[in-house]
Amino acid sequence: MSNEIDLDARPVKTRKPWFLSLIGLLTMGGMIAMPFIAGEPGGDEMPDIVRYFGHFHPVILHLPIGIFVLVLFQELIAMFSRHKSARSIVPMFLGSASAVVAVILGFLLYQGGGFEGSELAEDHLWGGTIFACVAVFTFIVRAWTLSPTATQAPFRVFLLASVGVMSYASHDGASITHGKGYLTEYAPDSIRKLLGMEPKEKKEEKVVKPLEEQIVYVDIIQPILNKSCVKCHREEKSKGKFRMDTFELLVKGGKEGDGIEPGNALDSNIIFRAELPEDDDEHMPPEGKKDIEDHELLVVKWWIDQGADPLIKVGELELTDEIRDAIGKLDLTISPESEVEKEESDNPSDELLKTVTELGSEFPGGLTFESQESSNLTFTGVSLRKNLTDENFAKLGSVIHKMVSVDLSATGITDRSVALLAPAESLRMIRLNETGITDASIDTLVKLQNLESVNLFGTKVTDEGVKKLSALPNLKRLYLWQTDVSEEAITDLQKALPEVEIVTGI
Ligand code: HEC
Repeated sequence: MSNEIDLDARPVKTRKPWFLSLIGLLTMGGMIAMPFIAGEPGGDEMPDIVRYFGHFHPVILHLPIGIFVLVLFQELIAMFSRHKSARSIVPMFLGSASAVVAVILGFLLYQGGGFEGSELAEDHLWGGTIFACVAVFTFIVRAWTLSPTATQAPFRVFLLASVGVMSYASHDGASITHGKGYLTEYAPDSIRKLLGMEPKEKKEEKVVKPLEEQIVYVDIIQPILNKSCVKCHREEKSKGKFRMDTFELLVKGGKEGDGIEPGNALDSNIIFRAELPEDDDEHMPPEGKKDIEDHELLVVKWWIDQGADPLIKVGELELTDEIRDAIGKLDLTISPESEVEKEESDNPSDELLKTVTELGSEFPGGLTFESQESSNLTFTGVSLRKNLTDENFAKLGSVIHKMVSVDLSATGITDRSVALLAPAESLRMIRLNETGITDASIDTLVKLQNLESVNLFGTKVTDEGVKKLSALPNLKRLYLWQTDVSEEAITDLQKALPEVEIVTGI
């Protein structure tokens, strides 16, 4: 009892908080030094205990946030109320101490790895450290201004500064866990405007202009190029040093010179390349890629032949019925960007990557992605020859649906493997030559509506089976060399599929 009375009676002025201040300053110095002393984050040599404590960061960090907000409210109330309550150092001690703990745990989390190269994480590390330093300093100021006569302005200034830095740091932190823009994602436009953000996109805004009003290059030509060519001919990836994503670059061309000759479509390199036979090495797009459609090419040629003016409208050009039809067939509702983006975001999922890598060791060099940014697969079993059996091929079951090109030439597979291809809806090319397949395989093939090239050379297919191939709408080439298919049947098929090149060796 007497103790308490003693404390109160002691004159406040004689208890200067030098020691507390020293500890506070040392803590601040330690926190700032921490990232410089510690080595590179990540790495397997990091003991698990670091990660164990690090994972408590998201738990602890809410303590300083709560306490500082509480103290700020307390202070606001104190400013406007006549009743002066006693000042206490306890809340500021808890607030700044928990901030220090949160920073140390956060630092351990960062050291545990996984944030390498993340600017946001680095920003947050420094934001958090600065906050904890300002918090400790505010605590020191609090310790010096406890007496009822002391002026409160310095404490209030630092308290406000702490809360300010804290908001900044916690926003960065939240962006790491929830992704940027988590808070503003659903904000009304008025608030987005206040924050200097773009208004939300109006989804339905795309008005379709009447055909005559459309600008040929912008509304028609560039979207066609975006669809078939730009994914390989743009800033990030300019094959042949040729970009096709702007008008100027399209005209400028690449290594081989001008991309287009205004007024002369047939002399324009893009047309020349696209019209080369498909098995020509220089054909564009390269083999295995989805070809530019004939009606699309027709429209591009029409525009080039009439001068390739980038600003001219459809109504200002000569419009034949053929061109009108071709334009009608275009799918112009797709905006140029969305098509390119779709290609870019078509990256293989981690899971697919893992499966393909695993299967890669089973079929070395046999299973590959069609291109770097594609999740489409190509398979060739040619190097395995007769060692590739139905049993082996069945191991590819989980990735069959991603295949666009399958070469089983001269392997040991039978109709059973071909039946496994039923889910390969995107399959464009298949080689089954010199295998033991029969008409039974054709029943599977006719369901793969994207097939463009089918090689059945040297197989046991008959008139009966081949007849069914007329149901493949995209078929361009069919190899029937050295089969039992009769000349008659081939003539009939050619009649049914006048566009298809049937290679018979006759
Ligand atoms: C899958 C990627 C890919 C796609 C899609 C593609 N190209 Fe190419 N393109 C290439 C590569 C690789 C080269 C360089 C090798 C060559 O010259 O054949 C090239 C070169 C060219 C060149 C020669 C440029 C020069 O001056 O050297 C032209 C012209 C061209 N492409 C036109 C097109 C057109 C038109 C399309 C769309 C119908 C298209 N490309 C689609 C990959 C692609």
